[in-house]
Amino acid sequence: MIPLLDIRGLRKHYSITRRGLIGRRQTRTVRAVDDVSFVLQAGQTLGLVGESGCGKTTTARSILDLVQADAGEIRLDGTDVRPILAGTDRAAMLAVRRRMQYVFQDPYLSLNPRWTINEALREPYRAHAPQDDREWDGRIAALLETVGLEPRNGVRYPHEFSGGQRQRVGIARALAVEPDVVLLDEPVSALDISVRAQILNLLASLQDRLGVAYVYISHDLSSVRFISTHVAVMYLGRIVEIGAVDEIFARPRHHYTAALISAIPVPSPGAVDRRVHLRGEVPSAMNRPSGCPFHPRCAAALPICREQDPTLQRMGTGTQAACHNPT
Ligand SMILES: Nc1ncnc2c1ncn2[C@@H]1O[C@H](COP(=O)(O)OP(=O)(O)OP(=O)(O)O)[C@@H](O)[C@H]1O
Ligand code: SF4
Ligand SMILES: [Mg+2]
Repeated sequence: MIPLLDIRGLRKHYSITRRGLIGRRQTRTVRAVDDVSFVLQAGQTLGLVGESGCGKTTTARSILDLVQADAGEIRLDGTDVRPILAGTDRAAMLAVRRRMQYVFQDPYLSLNPRWTINEALREPYRAHAPQDDREWDGRIAALLETVGLEPRNGVRYPHEFSGGQRQRVGIARALAVEPDVVLLDEPVSALDISVRAQILNLLASLQDRLGVAYVYISHDLSSVRFISTHVAVMYLGRIVEIGAVDEIFARPRHHYTAALISAIPVPSPGAVDRRVHLRGEVPSAMNRPSGCPFHPRCAAALPICREQDPTLQRMGTGTQAACHNPT
């Protein structure tokens, strides 16, 4: 079966030029996204996890061509859309853009404060299906209801809404053009804990109804476990483990995944703490350690780990991990 979304060898490096101590210009490379590949089918959710700076946002923004990838393919239903997104055929480009939408961590930053919610929701229709505005009024009202907002509130401005309500507007805006894939970049981390579950439930029920696929970016593994069918763990620009959510949580094979999962807070106060604590800071994406980039922090590191960079291998449990000495 041809995957809905098939990402192959996605790469985005940044060159940073700085003046060194003796005034000489030094150019360093930040490998923000390095050979990232995954597939996603309709109705599935891939949770993209990893510490700050590991390349989650750059991956999402490269898929949407909001930043231009250096290499790789972004296949939608088997067709690489990167040449279309970079090409001059505006109609073809808009048709691809309509199919992939983005939800920001803080929708306040993406909503024009001078526009009412109705105006904000009319914008995607104007861009993607320019027709009589009145025709869309009914759709906008239905859309607001879909995300649990009263249509009569559409005349209000973003600042008049709570964080959770604004995120509902952000989700409505992404869904307006009936996309196939929505990339959700930390969609609940700016919200109060009490509101997070409501938004996650909304996302899950919308997926059941609409069959939309999600890429769900988060630091919070509990929410990833709740909403995802699959998980990809990123470390310094690479996917180090990927597989079905139940497999990854039941038996993580990469030591970084194991450490992240064991760091999820223990819910019961009397429970035994079996956490594998992550040692040290995440290294800079500019100074990736040799061999396995996780080796300076890994308690299971072997001599080979300092020299040879492991590639993703099937682990027998259905997951793939890049590790010389899996758990
Ligand atoms: N425009 C840019 N110029 C240079 N470096 C960048 C740029 N954008 C991102 N980076 C670097 O690329 C790496 C990946 O950044 P990215 O924002 O994708 O990480 P992230 O996983 O989304 O982190 P967070 O969890 O903090 O949002 C980081 O080292 C970051 O500093
Ligand atoms: S390859 Fe080696 S250093 Fe890297 S996670 Fe596996 S055991 Fe640890
Ligand atoms: Mg980010």
